[in-house]
Amino acid sequence: MIPQLFIHDLLGRVDIVDAIDRHVPLKKVGANFIACCPFHNEKTPSFTVSQTKQFYHCFGCGAHGNAINFLIDYSGLSFVEAVNDLAANVGLQVPQESDTHSREVNSISLSQSYIDDEYSARSYEISPQDLIAAMQTAAQFYREKLKVSENAIAYLKKRGLSGKIAARFAIGYAPAGWQNLEEVFPDYKSERVRKLLVKAGLVISNDDTKQYDRFRDRIMFPILNQRGQIVGFGGRVLKQEEPKYLNSPETVLFEKGRELYNLFSSRHAIREANCVVVVEGYMDVIMLSQYGINYAVATLGTATTSLHIQKLLRQTDNIIFCFDGDKAGKKAAWRALENSLAHISDGKYLSFLFLPEGEDPDSYIRNYGKESFEKKLKQAMPLTEFLFAEICSELNLQSLEGRAKLVNDVKPLLQQVKASALSLILLNRLVELSGINRNELEELLQIRPGRKIRKLENLSKQQLTTPYRRLIRALIYNPNYSVKLDRNLLVECSVSDEEANALKELIGFIDAHPHLMKQTKFTASLLTFLQDSSYRALLEKIESEILEWGDSIDLEVEFIGALEKLQQIHRNRRMTELRSKSLNKLTEEEKRELQRLAML
Ligand code: CTP
Ligand code: MN
Repeated sequence: MIPQLFIHDLLGRVDIVDAIDRHVPLKKVGANFIACCPFHNEKTPSFTVSQTKQFYHCFGCGAHGNAINFLIDYSGLSFVEAVNDLAANVGLQVPQESDTHSREVNSISLSQSYIDDEYSARSYEISPQDLIAAMQTAAQFYREKLKVSENAIAYLKKRGLSGKIAARFAIGYAPAGWQNLEEVFPDYKSERVRKLLVKAGLVISNDDTKQYDRFRDRIMFPILNQRGQIVGFGGRVLKQEEPKYLNSPETVLFEKGRELYNLFSSRHAIREANCVVVVEGYMDVIMLSQYGINYAVATLGTATTSLHIQKLLRQTDNIIFCFDGDKAGKKAAWRALENSLAHISDGKYLSFLFLPEGEDPDSYIRNYGKESFEKKLKQAMPLTEFLFAEICSELNLQSLEGRAKLVNDVKPLLQQVKASALSLILLNRLVELSGINRNELEELLQIRPGRKIRKLENLSKQQLTTPYRRLIRALIYNPNYSVKLDRNLLVECSVSDEEANALKELIGFIDAHPHLMKQTKFTASLLTFLQDSSYRALLEKIESEILEWGDSIDLEVEFIGALEKLQQIHRNRRMTELRSKSLNKLTEEEKRELQRLAML
């Protein structure tokens, strides 16, 4: 038995968009992601995934569920396997509630059985699993070659790398020469293997006859995805040559804007340290690790993308970007800042550390040691400070023009911020710096931090929906609203009303599981826990309606609105009941009640 609370935690950490996108490429449309449904045959996409609410729904065939359901239905995993698979992705250990049977189930190596399935299903096409196997073979080959290459070993030693750390990062060496991989891919020249290696990015083939290894005479750094599979390589020359680094091309497996070097192996350290350090280079990560800082990751020769940020923010509340102190470093930091703003929620903390000119983390930690580096990390510049420092650096705030430009420059940044505390901090700082008062600024920037000015898009539809249905929708969206629901309103509702009964069941579940509800952000789908409900189909249908809300729903307004509607229905029913009695048969108390109801 896997504890329910763990399932909930897990679903709070996993991103369903990530989980599904790995198998079925998704496209962002409005607030949701869509694709042609993998569960039935269709030409126009009706398979919709909500990132905010972490569930999928197909408007064509009704397929519906969370990330776990998806793996079960799509990949054919068992429940336990699906949970293990997702947990491995986000670096969580699956705890066990004592149950002798479950140990057996769990002892099946999940990834192995998954690979076998994939192999048998499509033995002819080149599957992602074929590519991963090829990468694995190549990595092993490079490692063997490192052991016997004096030059490569001497180079790593010269850089101060210990043998232990080289092994931990599975560093290898691609020998000089054009077709070395033939040694481990015996059918190197067959059409199938050539296609496989080209697709994996290991071999370059200009036409159908010529082929040669991409990586030659380079130190090889394997890049792992979040499941610990090798999806790419970085290769560094030993001498001063260009390009210094050669990376795998983007393949089915490998997208630079998505992967982070060392994220897989650093998961536990990140959780322990309660922060992650983002650096620029492979060697930075490796040298930090050699000095005992295991919570560093690197982007792969690209800017920090918003996908990177989202990925990291699911692992930790605290990101420290560590860049060179030069112009390029500042620029890289600025890109990271721009790509972060929309994803920071209150409670998340981003900061920037700029190393002295000429130093990178690799050289810094070798020169000054771990303690000094960690001290620097603690002194990193908070995002808000960096934002204003950068913008103001080129402005003269003494002049009116300078202050006007300031407001103008901050505007597009501030508008992206969804976190209310952060947006308030930025606004207050802007008030100080610009000398424009708060109200005028809000007007100018067209924002009102801390206040939502959003309404349901479609009012007429809302009026047709029963308040029971609206309350179910709101509670699925955020179960914590159940505390605001007057249970008396449910006592008298008619027993034949399916929606009313589903609502009662939902409330019953919420009341019975206060520990689940106490979680500050309820990101898992509530329906995860109601798989056996007799109202499951109805509840799924109602949950799917949330997809039309987009991100802009004001739940408070929606919930209170539905509640008032329900109260009104009750009131009307009671008044009709009272009025149907002739006046002289009413007791004094009933008369007063009628009067009171009529007045409301
Ligand atoms: N990079 C790249 N291609 C290049 C240069 C750099 O992909 N031609 C990426 C690599 O991921 C590299 C990172 O950018 O690790 C940082 O590059 P740089 O600062 O130039 O190198 P260092 O990491 O300092 O490399 P080294 O210490 O090995 O010289
Ligand atoms: Mn370096």
